[in-house]
Amino acid sequence: MGNKEIKNIGVLGAGLMGHGIAQLLAVGGCRVRLFDNDDQMLGTALRRMSDNLRVFLKLDMITPGEMDQALARITLAEDLAGLCRDQDMIIEAVSENLELKRKVFASLEELTSPECILASNTSAISIGKIAKGLTHPGRVVGAHFWNPPHVVPCVEVIRGPRTDDEVMEAVYALLRRVGKRPVRVQKDVPGFVGNRMQHALWREAISLVEEGIASAEDVDEVVRYSFGLRLAFLGPLATADLAGLDLTYDIHKDLFPHLERSIDPSPLLVKKIEQGELGAKSGQGFHKWTPEKLRQMVSRRDEVLLRIVREVLV
Ligand SMILES: NC(=O)c1ccc[n+]([C@@H]2O[C@H](COP(=O)([O-])OP(=O)(O)OC[C@H]3O[C@@H](n4cnc5c(N)ncnc54)[C@H](O)[C@@H]3O)[C@@H](O)[C@H]2O)c1
Repeated sequence: MGNKEIKNIGVLGAGLMGHGIAQLLAVGGCRVRLFDNDDQMLGTALRRMSDNLRVFLKLDMITPGEMDQALARITLAEDLAGLCRDQDMIIEAVSENLELKRKVFASLEELTSPECILASNTSAISIGKIAKGLTHPGRVVGAHFWNPPHVVPCVEVIRGPRTDDEVMEAVYALLRRVGKRPVRVQKDVPGFVGNRMQHALWREAISLVEEGIASAEDVDEVVRYSFGLRLAFLGPLATADLAGLDLTYDIHKDLFPHLERSIDPSPLLVKKIEQGELGAKSGQGFHKWTPEKLRQMVSRRDEVLLRIVREVLV
């Protein structure tokens, strides 16, 4: 299992993540079939992919011919059975709900051959919990793409408690082949690697606002114009090496007692949610949003990130 090259892939869920995952795999040369039980999501997926690919065209990261060939490698399935037929791998990108994912994986196990790898794009649910009760848990693995998946290079390949070594390696090799930067996460811990670090930072950022130490605007400014700028080039551990581990030790000794350590979500976050301040989608979160500002931000974000990927992360 898992030692042959993965070429035929089914992507389940055509939402924010699923359509981008299907797109990047097709650009990377795989034959991709996509399914979503929401007809509207499935029906608009190819148009959303074309819109995404136009940014790549603008930056000369793909030619018009390559774009057409990539889109031609994608087909839409009529149902789950159609998605699963003759596939080397299925990537699940349905909504983040354990019960739903377990139901979906039980169906996937029935509808695919035992050699077919079953990957979940879950953000935080344990791979072991998703695979629990399956007859072949060895073929279940995490493949955590980051949003937008067709732009952000990293994919965390997560070993569940029963995942076979060959499955880990086959998924890792596939992701390298399609131009991603996979990393192996060797233990099935909540948040894997990236989200543990990201949410440790968000907890501190929210706390700084809550304590009146700086405004939300200024907290974001500090990150963007200081260490955030550096992070795409140097990770935190390389930065610690450059600073010196002795200095790092001294700072941690003095600073750690003052950092946010709450194990509950912040009261400020709870209050905002109770007031209907849900972020960009409701017009107000930590910042104020209009639909136009959101649209511009997202399209500019993709272009800026792609420029960084092209210039810095090769
Ligand atoms: N949004 C992010 O930033 C992000 C990042 C990394 C990982 N993820 C993870 O990716 C997964 C998908 O997230 P998303 O943001 O794309 O969600 P989304 O809501 O945009 O898309 C989910 C899609 O799954 C479809 N779906 C639900 N149940 C289904 C079923 N039984 N059969 C077929 N289709 C079904 C829905 O119709 C929807 O189109 C989640 O597990 C999420 O945690 C999300």
